[in-house]
Amino acid sequence: MHSQERLAARQLELNELAEVKLALDRAVPFAPFRESKALGAFVLIDRISHATVGAGVIDFALRRARNLHWQATEVDKAARARLLGQTPRVVWFTGLSGSGKSTLANALEKRLHALGRHTYLLDGDNVRHGLNRDLGFTEADRVENIRRVAEVARLMVDAGLIVLVSFISPYRSERRMARELFAPGEFVEVFVDTPLEECERRDVKGLYAKARAGEIPNFTGISAPYEAPEQPELHLRTEGRSVDALIEQLLDAIGE
Ligand code: ADX
Repeated sequence: MHSQERLAARQLELNELAEVKLALDRAVPFAPFRESKALGAFVLIDRISHATVGAGVIDFALRRARNLHWQATEVDKAARARLLGQTPRVVWFTGLSGSGKSTLANALEKRLHALGRHTYLLDGDNVRHGLNRDLGFTEADRVENIRRVAEVARLMVDAGLIVLVSFISPYRSERRMARELFAPGEFVEVFVDTPLEECERRDVKGLYAKARAGEIPNFTGISAPYEAPEQPELHLRTEGRSVDALIEQLLDAIGE
């Protein structure tokens, strides 16, 4: 504010002023501020706290806002699903590292495959080797990690598949963002609930020990938050239960 210098930035702090590109999840009417004070000004409100987090004026519309269209295609999700003989959906596993998400997603995929279902498993560790190779574990990177995998899952559901997503996905707001990409009933959130002490005791990948030793910053459950789901479609308490029993519960929940 004081120097009025123009600096490149990815984040805004309190009372800072910036020129930003804004993208919304739906079309809204607007006009440049110099043409219309009413249509050219906005406030940004946090959906959960209802606090105003920012205010601004619109300078101009980006050309891409006008020049990108939705291309309607004739073979749609319903047609593809009919051909595959199944109901496409996403089963979204969330939980701490080492809670058993990947084990359960794997076992479920095996069962679905044996039932003749067309599936695909998106696993955090694997997707981070390719599409999300450029992302780390800061809050901003995790948000982007989940945004991308949710969009990929949406494309796969559109292709008619039953998609299993196994990501820590620690933030409620990102899981909600993911849910909103899907039709009602299509998104099945599964909370793989294993207490931190148990995940840490198992420590299959040896990461908790490293995190405790301060070698891994932002480690979920240790130095970064995990926000447990409030109303998941399925709340799986894993302690003392066999994988087989949990899979039966899962199959039941997704109606297979
Ligand atoms: S998420 O939080 O962004 O959803 P994601 O599921 O993609 O996480 O990746 C989690 C995996 O990355 C863990 O199972 C673990 O193997 C590894 N990992 C590496 N660093 C971290 C960290 N700081 N916090 C959590 N997991 C980590």
